[in-house]
Amino acid sequence: MSGIERSKRLAAFAAVDENLLAKHRVIGIGSGSTVPYVVERIFSRGEENKDRVFIPSGFQSKELVVSAGMNLGDVDQYPIIDVTFDGADEVDANLNCIKGGGACHLREKVLAEAAKIFILVADYRKNVEFLGTNFSQGVPIEVVPFAYAKVLQNLRGVVGSPTASLRMAVKKAGPVVSDNANFIIDAPFDREVMKDPYTIMAKIKMITGVVEVGLFCHMAKAAYFGNEDGTVTIKR
Ligand code: 5RP
Repeated sequence: MSGIERSKRLAAFAAVDENLLAKHRVIGIGSGSTVPYVVERIFSRGEENKDRVFIPSGFQSKELVVSAGMNLGDVDQYPIIDVTFDGADEVDANLNCIKGGGACHLREKVLAEAAKIFILVADYRKNVEFLGTNFSQGVPIEVVPFAYAKVLQNLRGVVGSPTASLRMAVKKAGPVVSDNANFIIDAPFDREVMKDPYTIMAKIKMITGVVEVGLFCHMAKAAYFGNEDGTVTIKR
């Protein structure tokens, strides 16, 4: 296992150990490459999981839950979640984060908002003072396909992201399509703008055609980062 993978696993194990209480019955599971370690740790609770139901944010986490033999649920059955665990592309000093590197942020935000407790897990590279420090591809924005060109114009113009672009699939075969059959735009912003993620998130959400923005502001209770030296940094 590489150093980065070890860091992700460390973060996931610490987050589950501290935040998954015996009384928790409904658990949200996000997406990405760190979340499998969350599921691995939860799986090790064994019998305790029999009374639990797991709500995945998308295809990948659904497969994880199913292949672990854990109970699968949906957010329309369980609109109140005890605790949701998810990865992040970057987390700032105030626990705001960028998500959507995997184009899953709409459903992830639903699970985060439905949760009484929202916990982030990541490796040390995601732990930053200000968003956009290492994750330079921009803020992921899910848009309805009908409106994508207009939204791009809006973002490149008044909203202030001149290099905003439609996310293309590998080998540029066509646009990336989300689990909700929408497109994804990546919109980079200046450092100063990213110091106030709530304001830019609100501005983008006002654009007609935007479904959801990959900025999660004031949502997480804590973020766990696995470090190279085997320690875990916790931001609360
Ligand atoms: C997917 C996400 C992921 O949680 C985010 O990209 C982090 O992924 P990873 O754990 O692979 O670094 O938001 O849309």
